[in-house]
Amino acid sequence: MVAKTTKTTEQIIQSVRGMNDILPDQIAIWQFVERSLAQVVETYGYQEIRFPIVEHTELFRRTVGETTDVVEKEMYTFEDRSGDSLSLRPEGTASCVRAGIEHGLFYNQTQRWWYTGPIFRHDRPQKGRYRQFHQFGVEAFGFLGPDIDAEMILMTNRLWKTFGLDPHLKLYLNSLGSTETRAAYRKKLFEYFSKHQKALDADSQRRLHTNPMRILDSKNPYMEDLIERAPKLIESLDSESQAHFDALRRLLEQAGLSYEINPRLVRGLDYYSHTVFEWVPKMDEGAQSTVCGGGRYNPLVAQMGGPDTPAVGFALGMERLIQLLDELHLLPKLETEPHVYFVLAGEEAEQKGLLLAEHWRDALPQLRLISNCGGGSLKTQFKRADKSGAQLAFILAPDELQKNYITVKFLRGEKVEEQQQQKIAFDQVIEFLKNL
Ligand code: HAM
Repeated sequence: MVAKTTKTTEQIIQSVRGMNDILPDQIAIWQFVERSLAQVVETYGYQEIRFPIVEHTELFRRTVGETTDVVEKEMYTFEDRSGDSLSLRPEGTASCVRAGIEHGLFYNQTQRWWYTGPIFRHDRPQKGRYRQFHQFGVEAFGFLGPDIDAEMILMTNRLWKTFGLDPHLKLYLNSLGSTETRAAYRKKLFEYFSKHQKALDADSQRRLHTNPMRILDSKNPYMEDLIERAPKLIESLDSESQAHFDALRRLLEQAGLSYEINPRLVRGLDYYSHTVFEWVPKMDEGAQSTVCGGGRYNPLVAQMGGPDTPAVGFALGMERLIQLLDELHLLPKLETEPHVYFVLAGEEAEQKGLLLAEHWRDALPQLRLISNCGGGSLKTQFKRADKSGAQLAFILAPDELQKNYITVKFLRGEKVEEQQQQKIAFDQVIEFLKNL
């Protein structure tokens, strides 16, 4: 018997704010969603990659960008015992690039990778925005043409289709052009916003000098007009970027996928070039609702010391996807309850029951069977059986032991009404379970 004590809340340690447990009763849904996503991308030739949760801080500074919110304000950075500055990964693309270069995987070959796992950003927690969240992402390396951009965007649409979510999401598209186009555009934007400095909020005033394109991302309603009238990058693309974007648009149109061009879509990470895209729920286009975002980052691999390797990818937020599926009632009812709860009356039954259960598991690997552990009266065991959600209770008591049979009691389904109980000889149990 465990003694009951009254504990003050001070003694009870809680999880870190914005970092959530995923409890056993939610896991079936998470596993279902993860598996469904992986299955789709694997049919397109993507292979899973797993990389560390912790990387050198320098990696994110040099890829995601020194002046981005993610690096400037949101990283979990610490010094380890050797004095190295390390950070919990605030995204996955940087690690893919690092791993590919480190293992020589970008020389004369293409790569299609997918990954999933926890990501950390120290932002203000609210619905849809957490400090530990999970991404499912894909990255393709070594493809220059717009065909892979189109295939990847169609693949995201297929992900939504597997859940019946496609009618509820909207695709936004933009092109950020080449590095040179962007540098010229940044200058133009700087000039434009400098003329209207007084109308900028504090955040944007700061960004004006560090990263003026991020001002376009501002959600401040007072700056809406000013931003609307700002010069648009999409109107000053170089000819190569324009041709890439036009070809992508044609491919998407031929595939019948609708999209909207959003000239303000600049994304929050520095490495992008050319195509960028986001999927946003039609019912709620708020900042915390973007389900999936990605784009090209052609210069990044070379910039990080690898061979010149064009690249494109995206990541979706698992919490946001699951939340949306839940709100739209698109999550299936998953069967996780046991088929059988095994009631064991007495020590001898416990011993024999263990062996019988192992024997049945050998023959039926899919069988979900919970054996009663920890004793208890028949009444207690039946209560547990009922609570487990099992379809059947198997009962092994002295009479059964003596005559080599088990009693089957139906707990759910049609036969419950008839209060049916059946006696099944030990050597017939497997056959009985097969025919359930
Ligand atoms: P991102 O737009 O920063 O892109 O994040 C991708 C997705 O992660 C978002 O669309 C959102 O669903 C989810 N997400 C982001 N922050 C949070 C948060 N605090 N709480 C919950 N969910 C969140 C990237 O990370 C890029 N690495 C994507 C990429 C891959 N681009 C090219 N390849």
